[in-house]
Amino acid sequence: MERLQKVIAASGYCSRRKAEELIQTGHVAVNGIVVTELGSKVSNKDRIEIDGEKINKEQKEYYLLYKPRSVVTTTSDDKKRKTVVDLIETNARIYPVGRLDYDTTGAIILTNDGELANLLMHPKNKIDKVYIAKIKGILHPTMIEQLKRGVMIDGVKTARSKVKVKRYDRKTDTSIVEIIIHEGRNHQVKKMFQAVGKDVLKLKRERISFLDLRGLNSGEYRRLNPKEVKKLYSEVDLKQ
Ligand code: URA
Repeated sequence: MERLQKVIAASGYCSRRKAEELIQTGHVAVNGIVVTELGSKVSNKDRIEIDGEKINKEQKEYYLLYKPRSVVTTTSDDKKRKTVVDLIETNARIYPVGRLDYDTTGAIILTNDGELANLLMHPKNKIDKVYIAKIKGILHPTMIEQLKRGVMIDGVKTARSKVKVKRYDRKTDTSIVEIIIHEGRNHQVKKMFQAVGKDVLKLKRERISFLDLRGLNSGEYRRLNPKEVKKLYSEVDLKQ
């Protein structure tokens, strides 16, 4: 459920302020009944009319955000922390596809296209998610093998993954490891490394399918173009 003025603004009919004015002055009806209260909430199923004319459904929007640290991956936060949605200027009711932890940085898609969001999140569609993890110490070949084959986290084995050690820094005794997974379980990468006895010090998602962070700095975002949206759909269609 969303506030009526937000839904009207998200349809592109007018600004939120103008929508509030229209509501208060009796121009807006929900399911045939005039509503003048600003607090009213509506769902997708409600029919909204302004002066007797039905408003259009909101246009689909797709964004790729380079999530910074210290931002939560939700649409609103009880503790009033900044959310990924706050970083994007739009009236559309977008939400993040999947989740990155508060301290994880990198690529995240936001959209109001529920169909695509669900398809991208479903593990059966095997969308590559490429992470770069900084870990303490050395990742031994047996650990790499375990991670590749799948490890037990929360009592369930993870699917196969691809793992590559990019470099080891002797001075700091840390390694940079690329890991590619398809699933999106809670804290999955950190828990996978924990399962082989390694703590993740830093985590960044570099790529989702073919979408990487090129051209974006931390905190920046861009809209996906229609070709990219089509390609995302074809990535999931092919795997149906
Ligand atoms: N795995 C994690 O542990 N954290 C993330 O933010 C994403 C994947």
